[in-house]
Amino acid sequence: MIELQGKSAIVTGGGSGIGMGIAKILSMAGVSTVLVDKNFENVRKVSDSLAGNHVPYKADVTEERDVERMVSFALDTFGKIDILVNNAGIVGASNWWERDIPNDDDWDQVHSVNVRGIVRVTQAVSDHMKVMNYGKIVNIASIAGRRGSPDLPHYSTTKAAVISWTQSSALQLAEFGINVNAICPGLLWTPMWEAIARRRTLISKASVSEQDGRDFFEKIVQDTIPMKREQTPEDIGNLCAFLVSDLAHNITGQAINVDGGRFSN
Ligand SMILES: NC(=O)c1ccc[n+]([C@@H]2O[C@H](COP(=O)([O-])OP(=O)(O)OC[C@H]3O[C@@H](n4cnc5c(N)ncnc54)[C@H](O)[C@@H]3O)[C@@H](O)[C@H]2O)c1
Repeated sequence: MIELQGKSAIVTGGGSGIGMGIAKILSMAGVSTVLVDKNFENVRKVSDSLAGNHVPYKADVTEERDVERMVSFALDTFGKIDILVNNAGIVGASNWWERDIPNDDDWDQVHSVNVRGIVRVTQAVSDHMKVMNYGKIVNIASIAGRRGSPDLPHYSTTKAAVISWTQSSALQLAEFGINVNAICPGLLWTPMWEAIARRRTLISKASVSEQDGRDFFEKIVQDTIPMKREQTPEDIGNLCAFLVSDLAHNITGQAINVDGGRFSN
């Protein structure tokens, strides 16, 4: 187990799926966290479920004032921010799965959360990290950013942008002792993938049960993942804990797949 005692972090999108897994692993390593989500009730439940020092905070990463307040709140609470995990992400505007082709709202909102949200939060937090001459930033991209997608082109585009932003911001921040890396998760059965499975199953069926979606997901895992198993939020948390530790102090600007061997770059 990696030891990160005394470190404090902001994890966005901490109320669900991958964010919850990252929070759990960081918490086991001794990190104190401000868990941020636009859904306060979810993030409160996650904070309550973890041992250690964790505080829920409601913020929308697309809102500049929310982000400013979030950074002030984290500094008031823990005195410093050593680690930032930019995990909050979406696949489309509301009811995106009802559309065969993403509309303007889908393109705009996905860009606003997945790209502009990460840039905005990074800029706000790195101003503080620069003063400390220390910081660790991890962006959650996706294997969708490695290859195009016929039905989620807007989502894939944003995830490719996250990989590119990771490279640019790593170069901007290297002289301040700040590492910036991305993780590209493969296939995880979270509320996000449940919605994707519903959408893809609906293409061939009039109505879809929860089990239909899960069966579809399991088939995709068997057909596309060489190791024949789905990835878990804890898998992503484990790599995150390594990347934010000083064991990884010479790794920056990288995007690392956690996908059971699906892609080699
Ligand atoms: N599930 C997968 O298979 C998979 C694969 C690759 C990458 N990812 C990426 O991992 C990240 C987490 O995905 P997940 O599967 O856990 O999804 P999820 O939908 O379960 O969780 C996303 C969380 O982000 C929060 N959120 C969304 N927009 C926000 C905003 N504007 N401000 C603050 N919080 C916001 C949501 O409320 C939710 O709690 C996303 O960036 C996603 O693109 C997921």
